[in-house]
Amino acid sequence: MENKTPAPKKVSDSLTVMTEMIMPNDTNPMGNLMGGYLMRWMDIAAAICAGKHCEAHVVTAAVDNISFQKPIRLGDVITLEAKVTRAFTTSVEIYVEVFANDIKGQNPRRCNHAYFTFVALDDTRKVPCEVPAVIPLSSEEEQLFESASRRREIRLILSGRIKAKDATDLRRFFSEME
Ligand SMILES: CC(C)(COP(=O)(O)OP(=O)(O)OC[C@H]1O[C@@H](n2cnc3c(N)ncnc32)[C@H](O)[C@@H]1OP(=O)(O)O)[C@@H](O)C(=O)NCCC(=O)NCCS
Repeated sequence: MENKTPAPKKVSDSLTVMTEMIMPNDTNPMGNLMGGYLMRWMDIAAAICAGKHCEAHVVTAAVDNISFQKPIRLGDVITLEAKVTRAFTTSVEIYVEVFANDIKGQNPRRCNHAYFTFVALDDTRKVPCEVPAVIPLSSEEEQLFESASRRREIRLILSGRIKAKDATDLRRFFSEME
């Protein structure tokens, strides 16, 4: 890993907004957007955001659970918003939200959201490299920043990379609730 520490960056520096219209090829036999297509677009929006923040090649390391709360119909227009919540050493967490409305801009709704983890790679595209820290400014950014370390610990426990007893932020969080 390179030694030079990159300068911290704001969330707005890498905010990524992507719009798609749902076409017949994107739908299932009921005329709703296929979940897998939505996941693909979410991954793309998140990767663009992560690459911009890290100024590096990035790979998806993990995706937290995605639930499909509201169907998205043929002809709807969806907007995906991807923002970095926090950077760790070589990884970043990206929050993606999906909103939909019809072609006339009616029936606006928030359809789903998910957290993605990307790892930045150096120019050999093989070795993880250090990522810029995130400067949270708004209260929403601060809340996402603060909770990111607990979500990361859950991921690392579930993937067997750390033991539950070593999840210090989660332990502190739950002990403060007692
Ligand atoms: C992601 C990848 C580069 C990690 O490689 P590795 O040898 O495990 O690297 P490291 O142990 O140095 O970990 C690198 C970072 O990834 C994070 N990471 C690895 N697996 C993770 C997981 N399941 N969840 C969250 N973070 C994870 C580590 O915590 C570390 O982050 P940090 O430096 O900020 O603490 C490697 O597993 C890989 O190339 N995976 C395939 C990626 C890919 O093809 N994605 C597309 C899938 S379709």
